[in-house]
Amino acid sequence: MHPGLQRVLFHERDIAARLDEMAAEITEFYQKKPLTVLAILNGSLVFAADLLRRIPLPLRFESLAVASYQGTESSGIVSFRQSNLPAVSGRHVLLLDDILDTGCTLNAVRQRILAEAAPLSIRAAVLLQKKKPRAETLVADYAGFEIEDEFVVGYGLDFDGHYRNLPVVGVLNTSSLGLR
Ligand code: XMP
Repeated sequence: MHPGLQRVLFHERDIAARLDEMAAEITEFYQKKPLTVLAILNGSLVFAADLLRRIPLPLRFESLAVASYQGTESSGIVSFRQSNLPAVSGRHVLLLDDILDTGCTLNAVRQRILAEAAPLSIRAAVLLQKKKPRAETLVADYAGFEIEDEFVVGYGLDFDGHYRNLPVVGVLNTSSLGLR
């Protein structure tokens, strides 16, 4: 196991099997709808690349770079790293994010889209969803796996910019942080 991980939660084969199921559900829902998939970067990069290739629909792909985490804690403030939103008026928008934790990020992106554009709908798909209480409005329409409230890395998720390239998702080994 990678020294940065305390334990592996999902291996590549687990993720691939779950993405097949999520993609099938998404493909069925968006038949004959003008779809824009909007990936929230950087965390959803790997998830988006793998999920997109399983959705055989005509679609547009866009991305939006945001940040809210400092170390292993959400700052609660979502900063947009680009000033312009992709053009999504008149389209169904599917937001992709790596993980739903506090829900601040998805909520901020949704609110900004609704304030600046007129999409036909907005849904959200996340690979991981932490089991923790959050407002009813802060939910994902598609969630790959439910996890405990632990800090996870790999498969696009980082700690301080590291570990995004691990092919698995695992719990961060905080005692190995000097090894990065
Ligand atoms: P919120 O709290 O806004 O979190 O729902 C969403 C964003 O915060 C990052 N995040 C994590 N990143 N391990 C990570 O590597 C985690 O356990 C974790 N929890 C939240 C992530 O970028 C996500 O988009």
